[in-house]
Amino acid sequence: MPSTPVSRLLDADVARITYGADYNPEQWSPEVWADDVRLMREAKVNLVAINIFGWAQLEPLPGQYDFERLDAVIELLHENGIAVDLGTGTASPPPWLTAMHPEALPMQADGTRRAFGGRQGFCPSSPVYRERSLALVEQVARRYGSHPAVKLWHVSNEIGCHNAHCFCDISAEAFRGWLRARYSTLDALNAAWGTAFWSQRYADWSHIQTPALTLATGNPGQAIDLRRFSSDELLGQYLAERDLIRTHSDVPVTTNFMVTAHIQALDYWRWAPEMDLVANDHYLDHRLPHPTNELSFAADATRGLGRGEPYLLMEQASSAVNWQPRNIAKGPGEMLRNTLTHVARGADGISFFQWRASVQGSERFHSAMLPHAGTGTQLWRDVVELGGILERLGEVAGTRVVADVALVFGWEPWWITDLDSHPTADVRYLDQVHRAYDALRASGLTVDVVAPGAPLDDYRLVVIPALHSVSDEVAGVVERFVENGGHAVVTFFSGITDGDDRVRTGGYPGAFRELLGVSTDEFFPLHAGESVALDDGSTATVWTERLHPMGAEVVSRFIDGPLPGGPAVTRHRFGAGVAWYLAANLDEGSLARTLNRASAEAGVSLTGVQAGSELEIVRRRGPQGEYLFAINHGGADARHDASGTELLEMAEIDGVLEIPAGAVRIVRLTPADAAPSASSDGSAAPDSLKVTS
Ligand code: GLA
Repeated sequence: MPSTPVSRLLDADVARITYGADYNPEQWSPEVWADDVRLMREAKVNLVAINIFGWAQLEPLPGQYDFERLDAVIELLHENGIAVDLGTGTASPPPWLTAMHPEALPMQADGTRRAFGGRQGFCPSSPVYRERSLALVEQVARRYGSHPAVKLWHVSNEIGCHNAHCFCDISAEAFRGWLRARYSTLDALNAAWGTAFWSQRYADWSHIQTPALTLATGNPGQAIDLRRFSSDELLGQYLAERDLIRTHSDVPVTTNFMVTAHIQALDYWRWAPEMDLVANDHYLDHRLPHPTNELSFAADATRGLGRGEPYLLMEQASSAVNWQPRNIAKGPGEMLRNTLTHVARGADGISFFQWRASVQGSERFHSAMLPHAGTGTQLWRDVVELGGILERLGEVAGTRVVADVALVFGWEPWWITDLDSHPTADVRYLDQVHRAYDALRASGLTVDVVAPGAPLDDYRLVVIPALHSVSDEVAGVVERFVENGGHAVVTFFSGITDGDDRVRTGGYPGAFRELLGVSTDEFFPLHAGESVALDDGSTATVWTERLHPMGAEVVSRFIDGPLPGGPAVTRHRFGAGVAWYLAANLDEGSLARTLNRASAEAGVSLTGVQAGSELEIVRRRGPQGEYLFAINHGGADARHDASGTELLEMAEIDGVLEIPAGAVRIVRLTPADAAPSASSDGSAAPDSLKVTS
């Protein structure tokens, strides 16, 4: 488990929020470096990530190492009191590696190789890449392992961002080795993959390939195992680098995750326990309907990976990125709101990609802390202002987020739910997770994101969106939770298959049938754009199913659509608890109302935030006190109950906190106010806020 508090990275005795960026001095001359450190000090930058893409400079030809410039950069930073997050430099091999070993270039599912010239251009199973990258790590770790400037190791970079899946012969051989370890016998593999279908039964290990492109749909079991294998294969590279570093250095080791909507390659629930601290990169994705909601979700999920420990936001953008179809610049105050949303939700370190905007290379139109236009800019003033704010917020560092509800999420469920040949292409896992999350957030509820099968005892409510494949073990955890008095909300397409993605027969939703007290005999997905009405005024799209109550009470029914009169939402008393089933894709408002009702019944205290107000309320709590973060994303001024000291304006607040449109306020609550507010039905629920552990 993550073991190094981010707040103690720079100084073991004083809790601080780290502030900085990726710094790429190899793109600049030494005269510019001097200017850089001067400006870093002005902005109160205290941690920079270097040598992320340094390999070609450090080893221009095989075995010829040149550390002169890196030595100078590290010394310069150190002299200026700026700590170093040192990259191993292995993210992108230099030209010579794949020129000399073309077999190390990655192969796509269509059998074509990708050329050198981008980044991460290597096959994750390549023995040559492994050998040469570790040779570099050995040099770097030996040279700088005990340098006082180095406070963190940064293995590779966004591992698996571009090259997670490779389909070359070397990868196929490694895949077979991984399958042998997983299944031991071909019989077990054939059973798990269901190879009795379409004459796919294997009689010899050597016949198994990676699931490259086929004419008809490929085998789903094989597809999922390729994803598991790819995640494990890259984790193997991380572990090899980490273990080598540890032979030379006591400094904590991590890598930057991509808990984000646009990348799903790695199963971070398996990765996180290997990190000394959890670090994440997050960029607003303007292709999504609610980019800032997704930021909050990603922040909660990142915190979940560290089991509630504060995390390091390793990269974000000060304004626009360069890799979306339309790269939207941040509006007034948006960078501050984004940053403090991360802090509210558990970040104790804030960094950007990158320090100084590049003038060459494919990222030259990506924003940076220091823009092309220089220091006479609003962006630079915002960056300097943020440095001061984060310094003042040092007292918050080390506290933990107070959460009310558990939301089950995982990368493996994402892969499985989104497989093709399902009843409808319109059920996308992340959409369903985001919809549930957004509905909870709109009610001011803070969510802990937990893995399928994680203990739920600390919660009163668990929400389980579209968890398609559910092992007996995972189902058992949820059943026991409800039996003992917990409340659960399960949404459609959950529980349908077992841990091998084999359909559970006898009625859907298989694994949760007893718990939910319902049985479905057929799915009735809707046409694109079709909407059905429910008898409580709700509407639903995407999904309906023919549901038979088997003990559950019917909360609402379809009025029209394929199943008029049929149940849409049910509620079942099970043991001492309650289990809800949402058999339709409810409109946003109805989903929020339903989750609100389930939360209130479960005894979760609501913050009083009105849905649609765009006010985000989160609390962090620790021995030093409790802090209320109020982030106003909306265009109208807002108010919230609070008493204490506001830390951005340094104002005393007595009862009512004013949060102007677009502003953020952070209140160190007076102890009496640190107790939870009344729940929405007016009844106090004093013990329902908790510090997650
Ligand atoms: C990722 C990478 C960085 C940079 C940014 C651009 O986060 O780690 O090197 O490419 O994306 O957004």
